[in-house]
Amino acid sequence: MNIAIVGAGNVGGALARSWIARGHAVCFGARDPNKAEIQALVKSLGARASARDSAEAVKSAEIVVLATPWPATQAAIQACGSLAGKTVVDCTNPLLPQLAGLEIGTTTSGGEQVAQWARGASVFKAFNQTGAENMSGTTSYPQKLVMFVAGDDAQRKPAVLQLARDAGFDAVDAGPLSAARLLEPLAMLWISLAYRQGLGREFGFALVRR
Ligand SMILES: NC(=O)c1ccc[n+]([C@@H]2O[C@H](COP(=O)([O-])OP(=O)(O)OC[C@H]3O[C@@H](n4cnc5c(N)ncnc54)[C@H](OP(=O)(O)O)[C@@H]3O)[C@@H](O)[C@H]2O)c1
Repeated sequence: MNIAIVGAGNVGGALARSWIARGHAVCFGARDPNKAEIQALVKSLGARASARDSAEAVKSAEIVVLATPWPATQAAIQACGSLAGKTVVDCTNPLLPQLAGLEIGTTTSGGEQVAQWARGASVFKAFNQTGAENMSGTTSYPQKLVMFVAGDDAQRKPAVLQLARDAGFDAVDAGPLSAARLLEPLAMLWISLAYRQGLGREFGFALVRR
């Protein structure tokens, strides 16, 4: 698939590495695609990676992935131009400064706010619930980590679940986009365990079935 990733940081870079290894093509959407860090990332990812300004990157993309800091997300979406008809996967978390908590929650979510900004797009929440290093496809946990996917578009959801599998996860449908109200606090739990409870970043959540 042709994937545009808006935001070429920790999350964008890690997902790109996984997906390129599985045969996908990734074009980063960036404010300055010629920035040295982005050019170095593209070079390290090989021939199936590129970077352009966001409007160009999303044009031919089958999936648009948002991996920007929350305060930059509305502007990043605007820079894409119209996303109507696109599948958009929102990896962001609406974090308060210093990871103090979530700016939005319980009666709505960052995912639902993104759907308002990206008018006419099919928006999914995913890849927000674990550390970026768990998304690069190079982890060595005793079992697959879980990745919940929330979104309203039943026809497009299988493709997003497949992208989660392609990034090495046990992909689980968490229901409608409003389930982002649960998935963003789950990210906050991961952050709290990592930074306040002393677990560090080398862990993730798994789902056990019987
Ligand atoms: N880090 C994690 O472990 C983790 C895990 C799960 C979810 N998340 C969430 O994922 C999102 C990204 O986190 P991150 O750690 O990857 O952040 P990051 O490393 O700071 O990278 C953010 C990227 O967004 C780009 N950006 C900023 N404004 C932009 C715009 N208007 N248009 C296009 N690109 C823009 C930045 O590029 P510039 O060089 O132009 O500033 C940078 O490449 C956040 O919402 C975070 O809460 C993070």
